[in-house]
Amino acid sequence: MNDINSGRDKINWVGANMPILNSLREELRAQQPFKGATIVTSMHLEAKTAYLLLTLRELGAEVISSGSNPLSTQPDIAACLRDQGLTVNARHGCTMQEYTEDLLTSLSARPHLLIDDGGDLLQLLQDDAYRAYDERLIGGCEETTTGIIRLRQLIADKALRYPMISVNDADCKHLFDNRYGTGESVWTTITHLTNLSVASKTVVVAGYGWCGKGVAMRAKGLGARVIVTEVDPIKAMEALMDGFSVLPMREAAPLGDIFITVTGCKDVITGEHFPLLKDNAVLCNAGHFDCEVSTRELHELGEGVEIKPSIRQFTLNGKHINLLGEGRLVNLAAGMGHPTEFMDMSFALQLLSLLSLYTERELYAKPDLYAVPRHIDERVAAIKLRSLNVAIDELTEEQRRYLAK
Ligand code: NAI
Repeated sequence: MNDINSGRDKINWVGANMPILNSLREELRAQQPFKGATIVTSMHLEAKTAYLLLTLRELGAEVISSGSNPLSTQPDIAACLRDQGLTVNARHGCTMQEYTEDLLTSLSARPHLLIDDGGDLLQLLQDDAYRAYDERLIGGCEETTTGIIRLRQLIADKALRYPMISVNDADCKHLFDNRYGTGESVWTTITHLTNLSVASKTVVVAGYGWCGKGVAMRAKGLGARVIVTEVDPIKAMEALMDGFSVLPMREAAPLGDIFITVTGCKDVITGEHFPLLKDNAVLCNAGHFDCEVSTRELHELGEGVEIKPSIRQFTLNGKHINLLGEGRLVNLAAGMGHPTEFMDMSFALQLLSLLSLYTERELYAKPDLYAVPRHIDERVAAIKLRSLNVAIDELTEEQRRYLAK
């Protein structure tokens, strides 16, 4: 099967399982609410993202897409989108320089709206050399925790020049996508790549935020003993209360069979820890950037050998260390990303937030980081519940008055 057909089949499959986006497509198609808008995206280019991009186009937008990571762009999806007339500036396995060139090519279309996943588009727009690219920019949406951290830094530096909506912080995003989506897709990817059981293994999860909670919860469900490492005493307490062991990485290093970093920080597993690891330990990262497991220090041990697709084995003092997905976020660089249902929720938030930016500009009058309006969060959850045929109770007028007191 050629790339275009394979990409189309994958997109059709997920599209049939995205009831929220489909409901919004039906409801909004006739209005063409994005007519006149050029939307530039930097997102992991896989099937679910493709369905969002096609939906935005169907609702009237011109869509120009780039990747969000050199390894997470799937060539068949990119080929299929191009075949359907979208502009795609993204290549799988490109260098960081090529990756940046692709983002700049997209930005040179002078977008009205952006979707960023990790903040790379915004970072480039900070550079005076690309100032002209923002002349039509109304604002954008940020998908992930790391992008929000970068946005908050821009605000602290008084350097943010556009309104941005923090999709990551909506309840329908981090409660589901970060927690259950990452929890599920990280394990799907690890078990698929290694063909090893999780049951009876000792799993070390670095970071007990929204993603880490999901990864730890699903590891426990698969029968692993779970150790959590943290830097935040409250999160560490939460992990203890949830029944996990908590240790510093130095003490966890000799105990773990599988390690997952998901902190948004850097240098979480480093050369200090490598000599302490068991023979054949598996290391992987699910955080946004590939600096949580120090791949730089791993490569100081030599090139390593790719013993299976996406498993690179290094040798230290006669022991083997296995790195999955080159240390890039494993579920996207070496897997299929989150299950479709979670991305349906996240992408419905993206769509409705972009629409709010485009059509209710007065709500976003100054450059700042804005929350997703509550009614959008509730609307996404309500459509999702409806699609599952789940009804909930409604407050009576009297109950409303009682609660308002
Ligand atoms: P969060 O802010 O909820 O949690 C991060 C946790 O890591 C915090 O509890 C923090 O105290 C802890 N931490 C920070 N530095 C640490 C260190 N050196 N050692 C141990 N713990 C440390 O963030 P969230 O939402 O869990 O996201 C984490 C990362 O995952 C971000 O980079 C985010 O962009 C990315 N992400 C990845 C996804 C994927 O599909 N792989 C999906 C969503 C987010």
